[in-house]
Amino acid sequence: MGAVENKIAIVTGGARSLGAADARLLAAEGAEVVILDILDERGQATMEKIVQAGGAARYLNCDVRDVSAWAGAIAQVIGWYGRVDILVNNAGINIRESLLDAQIDHFEDVMATNLYGPLHGIRAVAPHMKAAGKGSIVNIVSTNSLAGGPFTAYATSKWALRGLTKCAALELAPWQIRVNAVCPGLVPTEINAGQPYVQAGIDNNPMGRAGSVEDVAALVLFLASDASAYINGADIPIDGGGMAGATRYRGATFTI
Ligand SMILES: NC(=O)c1ccc[n+]([C@@H]2O[C@H](COP(=O)([O-])OP(=O)(O)OC[C@H]3O[C@@H](n4cnc5c(N)ncnc54)[C@H](O)[C@@H]3O)[C@@H](O)[C@H]2O)c1
Repeated sequence: MGAVENKIAIVTGGARSLGAADARLLAAEGAEVVILDILDERGQATMEKIVQAGGAARYLNCDVRDVSAWAGAIAQVIGWYGRVDILVNNAGINIRESLLDAQIDHFEDVMATNLYGPLHGIRAVAPHMKAAGKGSIVNIVSTNSLAGGPFTAYATSKWALRGLTKCAALELAPWQIRVNAVCPGLVPTEINAGQPYVQAGIDNNPMGRAGSVEDVAALVLFLASDASAYINGADIPIDGGGMAGATRYRGATFTI
């Protein structure tokens, strides 16, 4: 038996990188996975690889910023399976502008994708999870939701998404719907390819490496599955200890 055997799992931004790894692992652990993305070719290709590996997957175009696109996607998923057990709100973007330099339409686009996307997703699936009396929602947040940073729109959106996670966890708990936040540190993917802070993030990490997409997928699987049945409203850094604070003492020797 897989950890999420026969569960219906939606992964937004599942065409590539972290979302694709989540989709692969959920499918390998027995879920029927529906990838939502706007990169149709990449989404189809990821879906086909999962199916070739023996998993169950489908792909749908869905811009998470768009409420009506969510309505169409969820209607399709309900038409196929009659229910949805897991939602992984993974789709996200970063526009690297400082507070004073940010173009307000860029700021709004980051908020629309990273905050309103998950909000629309939760509101779209929750009625179906309520009717079923169960569900697990995993929001892919960031360690940028735990401290300030140079990219104001991104950090602001992720702080808000972590807050939304708590509110949703409280409101939906009576129906046994759990909502949790995964807060990855640096994971080299297409979102940060070529950025100078990637090597610095590796050099300064307490464990001396960046995270991998598989590291993060393992936590997503755990929170999506019944193995985490009483974990609700949590926000879990997955960053090799980066947010533990030890980087402030880098070079110091720990002695017992
Ligand atoms: N890579 C990291 O270091 C890191 C660290 C912390 C958090 N995160 C978060 O993890 C998530 C995934 O990041 P990634 O590194 O895989 O990035 P990525 O850019 O490689 O992948 C993001 C995916 O989201 C999709 N997407 C973007 N806008 C969308 C929209 N409007 N509708 C539907 N799909 C959309 C993209 O097409 C892409 O497939 C993001 O929320 C990101 O903020 C990443």
